[in-house]
Amino acid sequence: MNRFFSFSFALLLLISCTACVGRAAAPVGEDPPVTEPQGVAAAQPAEPETSDEPEAVEPEPEEPYVRVIDPAKPMVALTFDDGPHETWSDAILDVLEENHALATFFEVGRNVRAYPEPVRRMAELGCEVASHSNAHKDLSKLKKKALLKDLDTADAAFTDAGVEAPTLVRPPYGAVNKTVKSATGRSMITWTVDTEDWKSRDTQTIVDYVKSIDNLDGEIVLMHSIYESTAEAVKILVPWLQEQGYQLVTVTELLAYYYGELPQPDSFYGYTYFSTHGRTDTPVPLPGEDVPGEGVHAEETPEDAAGEAEAALSEGSEAASEDPAENEDGEWKPVRVTETSVGLSPVGVPSAPMALYP
Ligand code: NI
Repeated sequence: MNRFFSFSFALLLLISCTACVGRAAAPVGEDPPVTEPQGVAAAQPAEPETSDEPEAVEPEPEEPYVRVIDPAKPMVALTFDDGPHETWSDAILDVLEENHALATFFEVGRNVRAYPEPVRRMAELGCEVASHSNAHKDLSKLKKKALLKDLDTADAAFTDAGVEAPTLVRPPYGAVNKTVKSATGRSMITWTVDTEDWKSRDTQTIVDYVKSIDNLDGEIVLMHSIYESTAEAVKILVPWLQEQGYQLVTVTELLAYYYGELPQPDSFYGYTYFSTHGRTDTPVPLPGEDVPGEGVHAEETPEDAAGEAEAALSEGSEAASEDPAENEDGEWKPVRVTETSVGLSPVGVPSAPMALYP
């Protein structure tokens, strides 16, 4: 009896101790009670940081950039021909956008068919989208019917890309005849400073040339958006020109604010025009603008334009490729024959004649 009692007691003790161990073991095995305080403790120092963070990184509300051109101050129009290019057009647009600068792009209709995106971006940024014909032919050698057909075909490429058909046209090679100058319903315009970027294909040469010109006020600078060397030169030249006090304007802005007239249909703005006109005393406002230089409010949002452009893209995506001027790698390259250089250069480079192109 005594032994039984002892045994029972021992058994009882054993059971309760096991339970005891079991109970004690349970919290050790269960993570939450043990690790939770550690977790909280660990999280606590971080907590103030995370709660501060939203205030610290909250971006300052950015003032919307308002572009105002002072017609009385120096201005220059950068122009880019022969695009759009699938890479370099956007590279140039990046620089313009960063610097709140505008330029004019004389685009080849068939290239617009192939790469409509950069053209839409140009329009959204406020750059001037102009025509450089459909197939980069010498327009002075076309019969009137073929000439108008070429220009109309280019216009369709622009409207299919979601931008307005340009009224401003730069004839390829600067080649014009009487019909091209005055019977297309468009405004034909050349340039006044030729960087010959197509010839050097060298960034430093392009930059040095532009920097060497004493006075660029009122000039229309010719470049091409299809070369990396030009895109690189633009990275240097855009901020440099602005540092020199030049406002970077579109061709139509330059005509209105500097020369005092809006581009007229059936009119030619070439060497004779630029060599006989200078800065006006009476800048004119752009259509829709009350005061010259104050800008026109866009009627549609970029979203609207992008949406419309998207709808048109299905038709626009077929790039024509039968043109003999297309080179082996399928990339459109302008075929340059002769180009009348109007070179109204303030540094006295002979304004004349013909640069022979490869
Ligand atoms: Ni060209």
